[in-house]
Amino acid sequence: MVFDLDMIKKFYAGYAGKLAAARKVVNHPLTLTEKILYTHLWKGNADEAYGRGKDYVDFAPDRVAMQDATAQMALLQFMQSGRTKVSVPSTVHCDHLIQAETGAVADLSRAKSQNKEVYDFLSSVSNKYGIGFWKPGAGIIHQVVLENYAFPGGMMIGTDSHTVNAGGLGTIAIGVGGADACDVMAGLPWELKFPKLIGVKLTGKLSGWTASKDIILKVAGILTVKGGTGAILEYFGEGATSLSCTGKGTICNMGAEIGATTSIFGYDKKMAEYLRGTARAEVADAADNLANELTGDPEVYANPEKYFDQVIEINLSELEPHINGPFTPDLAWPISKFADAVRENGWPEVLEVGLIGSCTNSSYEDITRAASIAEQATSKGLTARSEFTITPGSEQVRFTVDRDGYLKTFEKMGGVVLANACGPCIGQWARHSKDPNKKNSIVTSYNRNFAKRNDGNANTHAFVASPELTTALAIAGSLTFNPLTDYLTNDKGEKIKLEEPKGIEMPLKGFAVDDAGYQSPAADGSKIEVLVSPTSDRLQILDPFPAWEGTDINNLKLLIKAKGKCTTDHISMAGPWLKYRGHLDNISNNLLIGAVNFFNEKTNSVKNQLTGEYGPLPETQRAYKADGIGSVIVGDENYGEGSSREHAAMEPRHLGVRAVLVKSFARIHETNLKKQGMLAITFENKDDYNKVLEDDSIDITGLTSFSVNKPLVIHLNHKDGTSESFLVNHTYNEQQIEWFKAGGALNIIRKEFEN
Ligand code: F3S
Repeated sequence: MVFDLDMIKKFYAGYAGKLAAARKVVNHPLTLTEKILYTHLWKGNADEAYGRGKDYVDFAPDRVAMQDATAQMALLQFMQSGRTKVSVPSTVHCDHLIQAETGAVADLSRAKSQNKEVYDFLSSVSNKYGIGFWKPGAGIIHQVVLENYAFPGGMMIGTDSHTVNAGGLGTIAIGVGGADACDVMAGLPWELKFPKLIGVKLTGKLSGWTASKDIILKVAGILTVKGGTGAILEYFGEGATSLSCTGKGTICNMGAEIGATTSIFGYDKKMAEYLRGTARAEVADAADNLANELTGDPEVYANPEKYFDQVIEINLSELEPHINGPFTPDLAWPISKFADAVRENGWPEVLEVGLIGSCTNSSYEDITRAASIAEQATSKGLTARSEFTITPGSEQVRFTVDRDGYLKTFEKMGGVVLANACGPCIGQWARHSKDPNKKNSIVTSYNRNFAKRNDGNANTHAFVASPELTTALAIAGSLTFNPLTDYLTNDKGEKIKLEEPKGIEMPLKGFAVDDAGYQSPAADGSKIEVLVSPTSDRLQILDPFPAWEGTDINNLKLLIKAKGKCTTDHISMAGPWLKYRGHLDNISNNLLIGAVNFFNEKTNSVKNQLTGEYGPLPETQRAYKADGIGSVIVGDENYGEGSSREHAAMEPRHLGVRAVLVKSFARIHETNLKKQGMLAITFENKDDYNKVLEDDSIDITGLTSFSVNKPLVIHLNHKDGTSESFLVNHTYNEQQIEWFKAGGALNIIRKEFEN
């Protein structure tokens, strides 16, 4: 058993009591989302009601999951915490670093040798600190979590935006950065702004070509990519309970594409079936006892307008299959309108590749529905006119569908089975193309389709659809094919009409697997050595950041005055830099290389005040660091928006930047800076941004009496001998001021643990 049954039983045992406390303070019927959030308060029982979209609340998640790209820095930081074991059940999943090229066996073996040092590190650090480790080839994090760890009423965080997939099994599951994961593993609370609630009422029943995927494609069209921001989507209604558990997972998975904090379904028979089918009958039994409380109150679903901030209703009986794209997942086309849209917009009609599977759509049901189309094609003398790939979400799914003959069905049609990993979904795709810039179309059953996502080619028009529709389009080789109305012609010249897909939700012979690819942690990890080579260019053990010197900070150089948008991607770019996620010094060579310098309107070109020369930003900062000189980054509005990538805060700290002074911060980045012991401050008067000059030397005073709500003072010493001073604000609370003084939150945690 890989999951923690005792933890789940303990949670269920305390559930009724916590819920009673929540009912008292909230004082109205509860949505499922409220039930789960109020039963996971860090402080225990609720003693106040929280304002949706307003109050920041500390939570105690039940578990943490990490994928291999983000786990590296999360665990390197965790090693700094002084803990000997993680405080909550945690897992690592090796799925992002496997490149798809020729097929599962060769691709996996190549990845194992190319990424050996990363896998060895993750395996040894997991083993030492009590973390479950899923080896390369075991599967994609979210599918593995759904199969093994998610449970109705649970709450988890994961270092990947599609962590939300676990909502399909009734878990509030939220994507976070590595620093948050590190905090929770170290036994600290996790803070979240209490979300707004969007209710999605599903009526009717799916039939024919329409699949669960089409529900979320439709929702994305309604809400757009920003419509879910700061909200949790709660699905309910007869349509919701008719969907398979994995179908629910698909819908929750793509909630990430509309910016939702997460999405969730209430506990029902389909979830119980899935739990029993995946060797978790004890969890199903325990959940059955609380079934009424693991879903929203009936009054809430009867009068949703009263209890949700927004309500959407979709009739599944009328829902058409959808294809969304290109370049954005909210451009939603019902299949009946899609062919015209392709022609009118001049999108390439030839479909070059159809790709099914991924964490979004690789359940047994998905595979069997797609295979029912492939089977018809081959038995009627058709093969795929497009390239066609299948990515199983886990070894358990792969083994089972292979045993039941479905992979052979795809191969007969011309399909290639890829490793149980992210592959083309995250751009890990050595695509067979003579012209890497060619304008072309692909359809995937994945979730994201922005430019360059799959193959790095900005001219690839990527569309998202269900696996069965993707399969049909790959057989036709054309984007304009509508399997509901159109015919295909086989080699003998016969006209063929594909019948509706047929799927099986749960394998009749049950799931099976030879080796799921799981490594349990050592019972006693004290003697286990974490494997990091001192000469590695991909991994580096972190040194604690130095504590504050106890005085005001003077004679800082201006590193850059960034102009306009400066997201975490401008501060710490992704792409080729992903490779260095576990090596702080190497990845710091991308510091702010995407930011525009106010003074020359160029990127990665700033004045080195020591030489007067312009040069790349990381080199300039390294020159200051070598001379023991600190620096300041000045920025515009909403500095650090985008992701929770902690590298964007760690890199400037590592290279000796002392403060980030901006018109306003994106909140997560601001918190990340505070956690790393940086000064994150804002202009009291935003026009003071204009006073900052390129050759300024900067003093920050007021630090010896640094306290809550008390502004600090900035002194700009201009090159011409004049100087100006102004007030700057901050949002540090008492605890965060201690982080600053200690040189970072981890320094405090470690000290607490040593004492
Ligand atoms: Fe991997 Fe794509 Fe899912 S990158 S985790 S398969 S969204």
